[in-house]
Amino acid sequence: MNTDERYLYGDDDLAAERLDLVARLFEPSTAVLLDRLGPLTPALAIDVGCGPGHTTRLLHRVLSPGRTLGLDQSERYVRRASEDAPDGVVFACHDAREVPFPETPADVVYCRLLLAHLNRPMDVLAGWATQLVPGGVLMIDELDRAETDDAAFRRYLEVAVAVIERQGSALFAGPAIAAAAPPAGTQTVSNDTATIRLSPADAGRMFGMNLRVLRREGQVPADDAELVELQASLDAAVAGEVRPTCVLHQRQIVYRRA
Ligand SMILES: C[S@@+](CC[C@H](N)C(=O)[O-])C[C@H]1O[C@@H](n2cnc3c(N)ncnc32)[C@H](O)[C@@H]1O
Repeated sequence: MNTDERYLYGDDDLAAERLDLVARLFEPSTAVLLDRLGPLTPALAIDVGCGPGHTTRLLHRVLSPGRTLGLDQSERYVRRASEDAPDGVVFACHDAREVPFPETPADVVYCRLLLAHLNRPMDVLAGWATQLVPGGVLMIDELDRAETDDAAFRRYLEVAVAVIERQGSALFAGPAIAAAAPPAGTQTVSNDTATIRLSPADAGRMFGMNLRVLRREGQVPADDAELVELQASLDAAVAGEVRPTCVLHQRQIVYRRA
């Protein structure tokens, strides 16, 4: 394991605000996935890399599990998520690379936008699969690719890909996972992509926040002239000064344990 591997986007207020926006933009496609392929009223559902809890609450709302557990390595996110947790939803600090999880076995293990930050995602998934009941499902929801005709959005994506690559991981984690054999002891139930069409303002806001966090966390040089200019271009998209388009393709895979 890469010992430098750490979550690049932090967990302070701006980082949490960024995840609020991510949750709003990704919720429709995640809700369809859960509704279509998640088991209704499972006893235990686990959301790995839950952040401030948006995905955990969505999982709880759509599948109505007896108990829903959100896991994240960030104490700050776990505290934030726990503040307004509905009945039946609990959160705990846990490193996603480690099994066993604090509660097992799970009927559903779900994960969105975490595997992009972990080295050797297939090894991680193999561990998660062992935490399922027989017949339980492992559902993953990761970026596959992006299309944009806007130079600033394209440049932001290049910067983000490079920063994550430096850690030995892949922002667009979807293709490699989709091409790999399913984790041991599981079969692939579904392997598809969902499309997320971003308005220029939403793309500018999300990419702009991401870049601001990366600059502030020292992942890219904060004062680099080209990045300062890129920041201004992304902020201009939010203000509606340009009309670019951006489409994200989200890889959604469901495995079932034998
Ligand atoms: C992009 S956020 C996704 C949050 C949530 N799943 C969503 O889609 O809104 C990634 C989350 O994974 C967490 N994370 C990163 N590395 C982790 C690890 N090794 N173990 C547990 N959580 C981790 C981060 O703290 C962050 O909350």
